[in-house]
Amino acid sequence: MLKNPRTTGALAPSSARLARELACLAAGSDHVLELGAGTGVVTQALSKVVNEEKIQVVEVQIKLAATLKKRYPNMKVLQSTAHHALDNYRQCGSVAVVSSLPFRSLPPAMKHLTVQSLLGFLKSSPGSQLIQYTYGLGAPFSAPSGFKWQQVKWVFANIPPACIWVLTKTVD
Ligand SMILES: C[S@@+](CC[C@H](N)C(=O)[O-])C[C@H]1O[C@@H](n2cnc3c(N)ncnc32)[C@H](O)[C@@H]1O
Repeated sequence: MLKNPRTTGALAPSSARLARELACLAAGSDHVLELGAGTGVVTQALSKVVNEEKIQVVEVQIKLAATLKKRYPNMKVLQSTAHHALDNYRQCGSVAVVSSLPFRSLPPAMKHLTVQSLLGFLKSSPGSQLIQYTYGLGAPFSAPSGFKWQQVKWVFANIPPACIWVLTKTVD
């Protein structure tokens, strides 16, 4: 956090409760793409409800990605930016993109690239969804027409309390 405050975006890892809630929402999808895995709290919760071979994990920080690779040999762990991973991710079936990316603090250029890649991915991947939490009152980022945010729930057992949102493409 001290070395990379804007990309880390949180003082403490997510609580086990928040991680479970995110994993529960992802459980029905064919594949899971986790963005911003950090120390792996959400990764661990995902591994309990989704076959590890169906989970791909992305983390930009080299040391954190290396630790995750060792801990989860059956998952594909990428040391990469989220937008690069999204632009190259191909799977058949529905995908739950589970993101801990700190959109409120990401540098503007990085935020822009990431949002564009997320929207492009959801557009081209029917039945897929972005599951994202935020510490703010509003949606994690504004989405253009053709997409809708749904506020799912607040998780108060987290520091700070977090709100989970789901972004999907609307029907054409
Ligand atoms: C708020 S932390 C969340 C960590 C963990 N998932 C959790 O819930 O405790 C955000 C993580 O996203 C990573 N991150 C930030 N920007 C990123 C990007 N553009 N691409 C990939 N990972 C990124 C950071 O390095 C950090 O580990």
